[in-house]
Amino acid sequence: MEINIPYEKVIEDLINNNYAQVDGFFTESTCIGLRNLLLEKEQDGVFKKANIGNKVNAKEVLAIRSDKISWIENDSGNEFEKSFNFQIDEFCTYLNRTCYTGITDWEFHYALFEKGAFYKRHIDRFKNDNSRKYSVVTYLNQNRQADDGGALVIYTDKGAVTILPEWGRTVIFKSDLLEHEVMVSGKDRLSITGWLK
Ligand code: OGA
Ligand code: MN
Repeated sequence: MEINIPYEKVIEDLINNNYAQVDGFFTESTCIGLRNLLLEKEQDGVFKKANIGNKVNAKEVLAIRSDKISWIENDSGNEFEKSFNFQIDEFCTYLNRTCYTGITDWEFHYALFEKGAFYKRHIDRFKNDNSRKYSVVTYLNQNRQADDGGALVIYTDKGAVTILPEWGRTVIFKSDLLEHEVMVSGKDRLSITGWLK
């Protein structure tokens, strides 16, 4: 498979800013396939209300986040998920070789923020589990309009950075360092989110 991703730029941004934004990390056809799969899974009712790791009740969780998720198998046989996992694997190999990151595993899920959904300011690493090294989010929103909402806001030591969830855009950030939040979405907001561990 021909891979043409500016890994060097991504790594430079991760080193300098703890986050990187890259458009076209996954091929157009992979993104289209994944978007269709997400929509099919939603139709099939496999999406579940997301949790937040700690022992809090459903009502408390809903005050913090209101997206729905469906996990992706790392050994999926589906061609688009396979291509996604293949590319994540390539990236981990590259990161490990150039930055000694020691990534040995990953986990990803589809996420659907329906109209009105949000995820309040939080950090991705759990208090009792430090395995998450990098968060990786890819947006699958075609023809996004300016007032669709659902921006990702990352709180860096240089100030807040707003990232719009545009089609094919990928955001990578250090899971243990950066607080972030998803602003209220004005319409269905589709993405794949996961962690390199
Ligand atoms: C998360 C998260 C960000 C986004 O799922 O932990 O912060 O932009 N997602 O969807
Ligand atoms: Mn998060």
